[in-house]
Amino acid sequence: MKKVEMAMVMVMVLGLGMAASGAVPAHNITRMLGTHPGFSTFSHYLTATHLAEEINRRQTITVLALDNAAMSALLDKHYSLPTIKNILSLHVLVDYFGAKKLHQINNSTTLVSSMFQATGAAAGTAGYVNITNLKGGKVAFAAEDNDGSLHSFYVKSIKEMPYYISVLQISAAISSADAEAPTAAPSAIDLISIMSKQGCKAFADLLRASKALPTFTENIDGGLTVFCPTDTAVNDFAPKYKNLSEAHKVSLLLYHGVPVYQSLQMLKSSNGIINTLATEGANKYDFTVQNEGEDVSLKTKVNTATILGTLIDQDPFVAYKLNKVLMPRELFKPTHVSDPPAHSPSQPNKKGIKQPAHQDAADSPSDGPSDDSDDQKAADDTNGVSHSFTFPALFFSLFTPFLLLPLPLPLPLP
Ligand SMILES: *[C@@H]1O[C@H](CO)[C@@H](O)[C@H](O)[C@H]1NC(C)=O
Ligand SMILES: *[C@@H]1O[C@H](CO)[C@@H](O)[C@H](O)[C@H]1NC(C)=O
Ligand SMILES: *[C@@H]1O[C@H](CO)[C@@H](O)[C@H](O)[C@H]1NC(C)=O
Ligand SMILES: *[C@@H]1O[C@H](CO)[C@@H](O)[C@H](O)[C@H]1NC(C)=O
Ligand SMILES: *[C@@H]1O[C@H](CO)[C@@H](O)[C@H](O)[C@H]1NC(C)=O
Repeated sequence: MKKVEMAMVMVMVLGLGMAASGAVPAHNITRMLGTHPGFSTFSHYLTATHLAEEINRRQTITVLALDNAAMSALLDKHYSLPTIKNILSLHVLVDYFGAKKLHQINNSTTLVSSMFQATGAAAGTAGYVNITNLKGGKVAFAAEDNDGSLHSFYVKSIKEMPYYISVLQISAAISSADAEAPTAAPSAIDLISIMSKQGCKAFADLLRASKALPTFTENIDGGLTVFCPTDTAVNDFAPKYKNLSEAHKVSLLLYHGVPVYQSLQMLKSSNGIINTLATEGANKYDFTVQNEGEDVSLKTKVNTATILGTLIDQDPFVAYKLNKVLMPRELFKPTHVSDPPAHSPSQPNKKGIKQPAHQDAADSPSDGPSDDSDDQKAADDTNGVSHSFTFPALFFSLFTPFLLLPLPLPLPLP
């Protein structure tokens, strides 16, 4: 009984470790296309638009690849890079279609959600791709809002790793008015109005009235990630905010901006310390990004906030909604009762994470606040130490006795 519980903890810890370290991606689209020089332009644009990273970390996915000729027809239209990203994201289906399944579609036609839909860039059903079986074994692809004309056809299967990823060549880019629509130039983005309309009005109002605003707008062109707390979170925090000096109010707002573009996929595949717009010399004003499954949390020395959703993702600018106001240790004392994460991980998980913290107690940073709770210590210990280091160490020291356990985990494939 005891042994079984322990084994479950181990399996979960291992799963976490693999997910957190990102050290064993099941597939790498760049490498898969690398052996097909006829697709070098497509591969280049997957990298340039950061779609490659999103493809690599997903499972059950179909990439509709365009050869160099089809890509040059697309590039002839002189779209901006953000528009090309929208168009290519329509070519990544969030379901697995090998050549066989493609030819066996029920009722000969179906609509499949694409990454254009999944990232929220598309309006309504615009992110769906229509797949239709035609006479003579032909398979056609079109945007959902097609006018009845099907322009793009299945050519051949390039690579299939059932049911992880399939790469299929299609004859021409799928045309979609929505995906091809020009995207706003980043500097023209009205930060305040976007945040106000998407559920971050209270935060937008604080920012509008603050000296922090120009720092945000100046950074949009070069890359900016904004974490804006919900209205409820800001209202709950209001008494504490009022208590801050003017300069500290500015710092608190700047703490919610990061001067680089970080897509959700980038955040999900990397744990570690991130500097903010408030970071200046000894005033670190940083926080730690932590992933658990599909959840991304931001951990300060004082509290932990979770990303609830994306307001806008228009490389190089992205904004996310947070369930809490981030409290930097430069302005607030860590509390005795640690802040519980918004989603409560199961007990075995928590124990699994805490274990190394106790083992490595001697390594605790000396600059940490003295009245830390256990969770706080765990946070301090993982600060700056990437999980790819922590978890494998735990794995090798503790997992060895359970090597014969069946693992319900996807194993890396060649
Ligand atoms: C994927 O493969 C490319 C080319 O081989 C390489 O440059 C890149 O680092 C790989 N990415 C990952 C996440 O392993
Ligand atoms: C077709 O429908 C059957 C039963 O509804 C289902 O098992 C099968 O997976 C479907 N095939 C495809 C390609 O969706
Ligand atoms: C196929 O079409 C029929 C009639 O339009 C419908 O009743 C049935 O649900 C469809 N099957 C699938 C798997 O979509
Ligand atoms: C896909 O497009 C074709 C052509 O316009 C249409 O006949 C078919 O009904 C569409 N399929 C779906 C599932 O909407
Ligand atoms: C405001 O500051 C005072 C003095 O530092 C402190 O005693 C009080 O608890 C603070 N109020 C809030 C709501 O943080």
